[in-house]
Amino acid sequence: MKERRKVDLPDNARPILEQRYLRKDASGEIVETAEAMFWRVASAVAGAEGRWGVAPEVWAERFYDVMARLDFLPNSPTLMNAGTEGGQLSACFVLPVGDSMEEIFDALKWTALVHKSGGGTGFNFSGLRPSGDVVRSTCGVASGPVSFMELFDTCTEVVKQGGMRRGANMAILDCDHPDLLSFLKAKTKEGRLANFNISVALSDAFMETLEADGDWSLVNRRRGETVRTLPAREIFDLLVESAWATGDPGLVFSDRIEADNPTPQVGRIEATNPCGEQPLLPFESCNLGSINLLHMIDGDDFDWKKLEKTVRLAVRFLDDVIEINGFPLPQIAERSRGNRKIGLGVMGWAESLFRLGVPYDSDEALRRAERLMAFVTASGRDESRLLAEERGVFPNWEGSRWQERGIPLRNATVTTIAPTGTISLICGCSSGIEPLFALAYRRKVFEERTLTYVNALLVEELKKRGLDDEARLRPIAEKGSLAGLGLPDDLTRLFVTSHEIDPAWHVKMQAAFQRHTDNAVSKTINLPEEASVDDVASAYLRAYREGCKGITVYRDRCKATQVLYRGGGG
Ligand code: CDP
Repeated sequence: MKERRKVDLPDNARPILEQRYLRKDASGEIVETAEAMFWRVASAVAGAEGRWGVAPEVWAERFYDVMARLDFLPNSPTLMNAGTEGGQLSACFVLPVGDSMEEIFDALKWTALVHKSGGGTGFNFSGLRPSGDVVRSTCGVASGPVSFMELFDTCTEVVKQGGMRRGANMAILDCDHPDLLSFLKAKTKEGRLANFNISVALSDAFMETLEADGDWSLVNRRRGETVRTLPAREIFDLLVESAWATGDPGLVFSDRIEADNPTPQVGRIEATNPCGEQPLLPFESCNLGSINLLHMIDGDDFDWKKLEKTVRLAVRFLDDVIEINGFPLPQIAERSRGNRKIGLGVMGWAESLFRLGVPYDSDEALRRAERLMAFVTASGRDESRLLAEERGVFPNWEGSRWQERGIPLRNATVTTIAPTGTISLICGCSSGIEPLFALAYRRKVFEERTLTYVNALLVEELKKRGLDDEARLRPIAEKGSLAGLGLPDDLTRLFVTSHEIDPAWHVKMQAAFQRHTDNAVSKTINLPEEASVDDVASAYLRAYREGCKGITVYRDRCKATQVLYRGGGG
């Protein structure tokens, strides 16, 4: 084998790769190095190039290089499964659930197949008749969406994703479904629906009714009957209280998402994937990938040339992934190949801001976010246009919004901001566009030994200023943040952590990225434990006002709180 670049893995990455990513033989022995893994992925993905008469070897070397440098990584299923039998490479799926036993159990079977292959699934359960409604064939009563969700939850619990990780689900319910109120509270009991994130789809009409303090109707669509009318404010309050207490439900702004649907002629957007960043049609899938921004910095700005090169290579890579993807169902293959959606995003944003000397919660950071993401989307889209010249537009282009705008593209969408939960650990950078949760943490390595990890960029900065002595590092390690430690103000201001950032800034940052992202943005608005119900309400309203496509909040330690309180902290 040709001598290839060695991978310089961060310390914490090795055990993750060994446990879940590197191939093992029948006896469970690891038979792959990190280099061999990246080569397996690079050569499998580049294999697609042959279809257009391009020599795959050249691209395999380039794909290898960009991954081995940890400049760009595709989503976990691609790293785990590319180059293996049946290799399913996408992280995100949306499946339809119809209002009959056959359709519900079909969806359940599809879910098991998708999870087994490493993907996460999103559903909209609004098509199911409400609980208490009549079932004609048995003269019985329907169980309603929330009960059926329990089935999907159990199925997920049993079927691990390719034996690698637990599956993840998103359940969405439209805001006029009669079971809305029980859906809002579906997760308030500890441990219930543990494999689901839940979100309410709020329409523009609902938001206008809420604004006008009007009444809202819950409707049995099958019968065309209004089941109940209540103040929109009451629904919103319940929703926010539940989110304050448990983190669920989140919101998705369904009309806004539909307005950005690039292929309305094919169908409506049905739901999002589990973490909310990828809206999809029924039976559609998407493969994601993210650029490590920490590797794209030169001095006090981004290295735009390097970034552009990386974006173009990543778009080509992700388009090739669609070609070699082993889709788990024929319906999914057809939809996904018809739209060819890809989701290129970024990771390491918070640490890039450390490096650039810009505090996360500042106007300057928002400006930089917009400039960065506008550039990524513009370069990515231009690459997709070039690919369309070479390989043809995506099959559903005719009649799409892109055709209306006269832009030939290979991919119906190009950019998405993923959470990058695992791939950011492999790269050793902060995840997605999230601020750091803590600047240091302690980890038990052996029974009697605990190691403290302090953020490398912080240590570097402390060293530069001669402040890296043990007496200063210890309290940082204990506290996880610099607040109140008497360090220089500019340092405390720059190395700001998640709970010190006002929720409004969290939302503003999400909105800044959303403005230049084709799909959606994964972001958790982290609130301190003492945040009030009103804080959650303001974050939700701000997200709508600022143009986000959805929002998720998480109040520190809230899962331990079981009782709902109204108005401020409890
Ligand atoms: O970093 P990695 O590629 O592993 O994934 P991520 O960016 O944290 O998550 C991207 C998407 O993968 C999620 O939105 C889910 O659709 C899916 N996912 C899943 O199905 N199961 C998990 N345990 C984690 C992620």
